[in-house]
Amino acid sequence: MTLDSLFDASAESKKRKVDSIRIRRPDDWHVHLRDGAMLRAILPFTAAQFARGIIMPNLVPPVTTAAAAAAYRSRILAARPVGNDFEPLMTCYLTDTTSPDEIQKGHSEGVWVAAKYYPAGATTNAHHGVTSISRIRPVLERMERIGMPLLIHGEATDPAVDIFDREALFLEQTLLPLLRDHQELKAVVEHVTPQEAVDVVRAHGSRIAGTITPHHLVINRTSLFQGGLRPHLYCLPVAKREHHRLALRRAATSGDPCFFIGTDTAPHLSKAKEAACGCAGVFVGATALQTYAQVFDEEIALDRLEAFASLNGARFYGLPANTGTIELKRRAAAAPLAVRVDSDEVMVFRGGESMPWSLGEVRP
Ligand code: DOR
Ligand code: ZN
Repeated sequence: MTLDSLFDASAESKKRKVDSIRIRRPDDWHVHLRDGAMLRAILPFTAAQFARGIIMPNLVPPVTTAAAAAAYRSRILAARPVGNDFEPLMTCYLTDTTSPDEIQKGHSEGVWVAAKYYPAGATTNAHHGVTSISRIRPVLERMERIGMPLLIHGEATDPAVDIFDREALFLEQTLLPLLRDHQELKAVVEHVTPQEAVDVVRAHGSRIAGTITPHHLVINRTSLFQGGLRPHLYCLPVAKREHHRLALRRAATSGDPCFFIGTDTAPHLSKAKEAACGCAGVFVGATALQTYAQVFDEEIALDRLEAFASLNGARFYGLPANTGTIELKRRAAAAPLAVRVDSDEVMVFRGGESMPWSLGEVRP
């Protein structure tokens, strides 16, 4: 057999469609679970898909102390469906006045695993965030020393900056200097969307990672206006041009260990989305894995889904991979349209669509 025909054979076998795959149970390294009735309504979807989740702290008021994080964790555990083993991994919301001792205390007590840096005003409930990186230098130095990851919402906040350029500008103005000044700091660039952010993550791959959402893999900025305004596709960072989406698909399916799942599922009530000033966030918790599986299938990369979904993130956070497995099946199923919350509802990303991949059996 010639070398050429060998390559052809392997390409052929890759193209052959499998009907199902079984991977280690995945984790969601970026999830907004909210609180109260919303938490109870939407947690079952994330808990059906993922074994663990990094829980975002942008509640009202934000989770800024170890005591508040421990109490929130208890509320999440209490909201799990009976028999479900979903494990919430908590984070601290950084403000200008966060104390390095509080950060270290929560970390050493095992209350939180990371801290979230929202530039003040960058997104939903970010007005208590950090006004200038210089204000949290002592915190960053402490995190660097104790090996605690910084989770970054990487968007410039100057309202005069074009919304589609805010991540690229943040990289230049804030992230690259921060990485230079804190050479040992571990950080996650959350919900990477532009090609420039993919490149920065790759260039610092040993200590920097990037999470990629399902929606940014399937929509671009034109989708927001397809046939009319689509408020349920609006999130921050906002979806970018098509070539950025394609760069994200290449990064996610590359097998590169610095990229992993972070769904950024961010539910809001319909009345808050379908408003004169609708808020940012996509509820993707119910259709995340189905979407990732479809994307990896389309990119002929299903053999790399397990690394992206179940191995890379755990390795970055220094946690063991899950031992259980989940099956994903090539079996079309309609996604639920919406989830009821009190007298309103949350619209599901791709709700009502027939999705080619669905969830199969979970072995804990
Ligand atoms: O679209 C978003 N929604 N982006 C964020 O960064 C926050 C999130 C939310 O909490 O609603
Ligand atoms: Zn988020």
